Amino acid sequence: MPSSISYTLFTIFSTLLTTSNGAFCEKYTEGIVIKRFEKTTHLHFYFHDIVSGKNPTTARIAGPPNGTAYSFGSTVMIDDPLTEGPEPTSKLVGRAQGMYAIASQRDASLLMVMNFAFMEGTYNGSSISILGRNPVMDDVREMPIVGGSGLFRSAHGYALAHTIAFDFKTGDAIVEYNVHVTYY
Ligand SMILES: *[C@@H]1O[C@H](CO)[C@@H](O)[C@H](O)[C@H]1NC(C)=O
Ligand SMILES: *[C@@H]1O[C@H](CO)[C@@H](O)[C@H](O)[C@H]1NC(C)=O
Repeated sequence: MPSSISYTLFTIFSTLLTTSNGAFCEKYTEGIVIKRFEKTTHLHFYFHDIVSGKNPTTARIAGPPNGTAYSFGSTVMIDDPLTEGPEPTSKLVGRAQGMYAIASQRDASLLMVMNFAFMEGTYNGSSISILGRNPVMDDVREMPIVGGSGLFRSAHGYALAHTIAFDFKTGDAIVEYNVHVTYY
């Protein structure tokens, strides 16, 4: 599943400056070289937000009792399956655990606070943490990766979300994720 692109990052501060102030003092600034190996992995999977039916993977845990504009404040806890393919029956590769909340009074923009806990292949047992804004009506939404655990320790990067199916009656959604994660 995840194709791994490893590359070496050489961060080079190659400033070499000399400041002279007459004969009184001379200041040298020497360049330093930091060598650091970073790995970047591209992950591709599908997120199933199941709101309806007998076995929903979501639970509304907070929010205003009555309808407000765009249900502002509604907060939903999730334990959504992440699968290799778009079909719900496709191989499980992880779960999206956390919550989302409607954080805008003007449109359908969510605050996403979730961990992707991976359960397949090399990354089984590793996770990444996402914290970002998700304007769900946009074609592609970008959300920052703010950290990770296991192989993804000290992760950073971004996740791109693209809804491929949304049922307006039930609220069920299937979202394609392309995740670019960089870690040491
Ligand atoms: C919610 O709506 C009902 C019916 O419209 C109303 O009686 C009630 O006062 C509302 N509650 C709040 C907290 O606004
Ligand atoms: C993932 O790791 C758990 C715990 O070590 C193990 O029980 C499970 O079989 C692993 N799953 C896969 C698909 O390798």
